[in-house]
Amino acid sequence: MAPIYRKADAARCVQSIRNRLTTYFEMNRFALWIFLPLCVLAQQPAPPPALSEYEGRVIAQTMHWQGAAWLVRHKRDREEATLLMREKLDLKPGMSVCDMGSGNGYHTLPMAKAVGEAGKVFAVEVQPEMIEMLHRRAEEQGIKNITSIIGESHDPKLPAESCDMILLVDVYHEFSHPEPMLAGMRKALKKDGVVVLVEFRAEDAGVPIKPEHKMTKAQINKEMTKNGFKLVREFDGLPWQHMMFFGAAEEKLK
Ligand SMILES: C[S@@+](CC[C@H](N)C(=O)[O-])C[C@H]1O[C@@H](n2cnc3c(N)ncnc32)[C@H](O)[C@@H]1O
Repeated sequence: MAPIYRKADAARCVQSIRNRLTTYFEMNRFALWIFLPLCVLAQQPAPPPALSEYEGRVIAQTMHWQGAAWLVRHKRDREEATLLMREKLDLKPGMSVCDMGSGNGYHTLPMAKAVGEAGKVFAVEVQPEMIEMLHRRAEEQGIKNITSIIGESHDPKLPAESCDMILLVDVYHEFSHPEPMLAGMRKALKKDGVVVLVEFRAEDAGVPIKPEHKMTKAQINKEMTKNGFKLVREFDGLPWQHMMFFGAAEEKLK
């Protein structure tokens, strides 16, 4: 009798171990499903905090996509001399350029025509709704050389050394993360590439735009210099805006 008892006992024992192992692995698998994604998330660097002020300037709220009709208003060219502004960009066929904060593409589309099929325009936006409108407008006009990028407020997500020019019309003053955005754009410039800021003039009370959506030349220069850019030329002939061209400064950033 004794051996039979030991055999049954051993079988029970093996079954019990098997059950415990199964439970152990089931629990671990459950834990993996829950905790692995949490661990991955925890390891992502947190985005830097959004600023409400920078270098003594109040940062403006982002213009909402529901107001996009204002960007394509009929009298815009008359008010801002947008054709003249784009002429001053001196775009050439084959250039690779970026319309940073492109909105619904008011400038992106003519830029794409100017650089032609051999060229390329990156349209960077944080609001996907703006990019959808831009795509629709580009499709209507048969334009195919635009690459859209949904950026983040602290990261333009442009490829390194990809741009001869990065244009920002009425955009820079909205950046909630000016420093990482400028660092990202600096990396995206090709050698001798330029960043062009077009900003409503804060020195001029006659420019009918809210104060936080305007900038002085001195403020623009201060912020750009601090972030490794130098003024290479400017155009003062626009009715309401400054137009300032910046290249990457050679010296190391402080
Ligand atoms: C006043 S609109 C100007 C749009 C366009 N440049 C034009 O002149 O028609 C400013 C745009 O900048 C975009 N913007 C703000 N911060 C941005 C960022 N960090 N990266 C990309 N786009 C941004 C906003 O979503 C908004 O569409």
